[in-house]
Amino acid sequence: MESVGERIARLKRERNAVILVHNYCLPEVQDVADYVGDSLGLSVKATQTDADVIVFCGVTFMAETAKILNPGKTVLIPDAAAVCAMAQMCSPEQIVAAREANPGREVVGYVNSTAACKAEMDVCCTSSNAVDIVSSLESSGAIFVPDRNLGTYAAGRCPSKDVVLWDGFCPIHQSISVQQVQELKAAHPDAEVLAHPECRSEVLDLADVIGSTEKMLNHCRASERDGFIVLTEVGMRHRLEANCPGKRFYFPEHAVCGAMKMATL
Ligand code: 13P
Ligand code: SF4
Repeated sequence: MESVGERIARLKRERNAVILVHNYCLPEVQDVADYVGDSLGLSVKATQTDADVIVFCGVTFMAETAKILNPGKTVLIPDAAAVCAMAQMCSPEQIVAAREANPGREVVGYVNSTAACKAEMDVCCTSSNAVDIVSSLESSGAIFVPDRNLGTYAAGRCPSKDVVLWDGFCPIHQSISVQQVQELKAAHPDAEVLAHPECRSEVLDLADVIGSTEKMLNHCRASERDGFIVLTEVGMRHRLEANCPGKRFYFPEHAVCGAMKMATL
């Protein structure tokens, strides 16, 4: 009898499909991927594939992004209920109203948003390129939606831009507290601290390195240190351990995104 892995491989061949998986997905799902990465890397891969079908294991805005970039391809998401909580914190109507209330400002939207919201933005960014995108705006004013933490981080690095922030946030990253980080640092004093820019600014102040999930991986690979406190969703551990043998990773263990775990084999 065919195993689940063999069946996935056969279906991939028959359908000419590619499997793209986000860094937070379940380990066994990451292990059957053609590519595992962050939002930016996955979007780039989605534009480079010759496959007819893209199977996107992540949350719905990621699959929508792949479809926007590949209107002619079939994009499948294993469970359409895998919705990013932050993406629900902004609607297209609210963006239209904010634009009217703030004339002359460009709307910069985090990729963690619905396709309907993206249609109302001037430009879309990910955690990898938010600072570059805000700094490259033609106008000096922006409205950054929906993540107030990433918006605060990007605005702080672009002092010539006046950025109006939204009140959205990722509940998982928002729940990582200063006290928790201090406890992790006390338990692992030699570890480097890496934080995702979706964390609160007072948590980012405690970090040695701030960046997307892929930037975290690249940093840990290159670093001579062997211990890392990783302030992001715990699914990242599998990728880090697989790529950095012998190194140790310490997470805020409660930081679990249920939506990212909905894709199973
Ligand atoms: P990355 O693009 O850094 O992987 O982040 C995506 C995300 O949803 C973080 O919560
Ligand atoms: Fe959305 Fe947060 Fe989950 Fe990322 S970790 S998909 S931002 S809810």
